[in-house]
Amino acid sequence: MGDLSIQDLVVEYSSGGYAVRPLDGFNLDVAAGSLVILLGPSGCGKTTLLSCLGGILKPSAGAIKFGDVDVTSLDAKGLSKYRRETVGIVFQAFNLVP
Ligand SMILES: Nc1ncnc2c1ncn2[C@@H]1O[C@H](COP(=O)(O)OP(=O)(O)O)[C@@H](O)[C@H]1O
Ligand SMILES: [Mg+2]
Repeated sequence: MGDLSIQDLVVEYSSGGYAVRPLDGFNLDVAAGSLVILLGPSGCGKTTLLSCLGGILKPSAGAIKFGDVDVTSLDAKGLSKYRRETVGIVFQAFNLVP
C-alpha cells in the first residue's frame, strides 16, 4: 500500500436522466515524494479524481487514504482541516471571489 492509496473508487453523476460513472473501481498507490501525471482525454474523469483527492467531492464508493487519514470517512469539519493542512489545489478555472 502506498502513502496515498486509492481503493475501488467510484464516482457516479446523474445527468439528464442518465448515470455517468467516470470512475468505476479505480485503484492507485503512490509513494511519498512521487511526481504523478494524470493523462487522458477530455471527459475521462481527471477532474473528478482530483476533486475527490482534494476533499471537495465525495465519491459514491471506495476509499482514499493519505497515510493514516481515511479521507473518504472524514466529516465536514475533518475535511476542512484536511483541505487546510494537507492538500493544495490550483483550479483550472481559478474560482476567485470577484
Ligand atoms: N457535476 C457533474 N454532473 C454530471 N456529470 C459530470 C459532472 N462533472 C463531470 N461530469 C461528467 O463526468 C465525466 C468526467 O468529467 P471530468 O472529471 O470533468 O473529466 P476530465 O477532467 O478528464 O475532462 C464527463 O463525462 C463529464 O461530463
Ligand atoms: Mg478536467
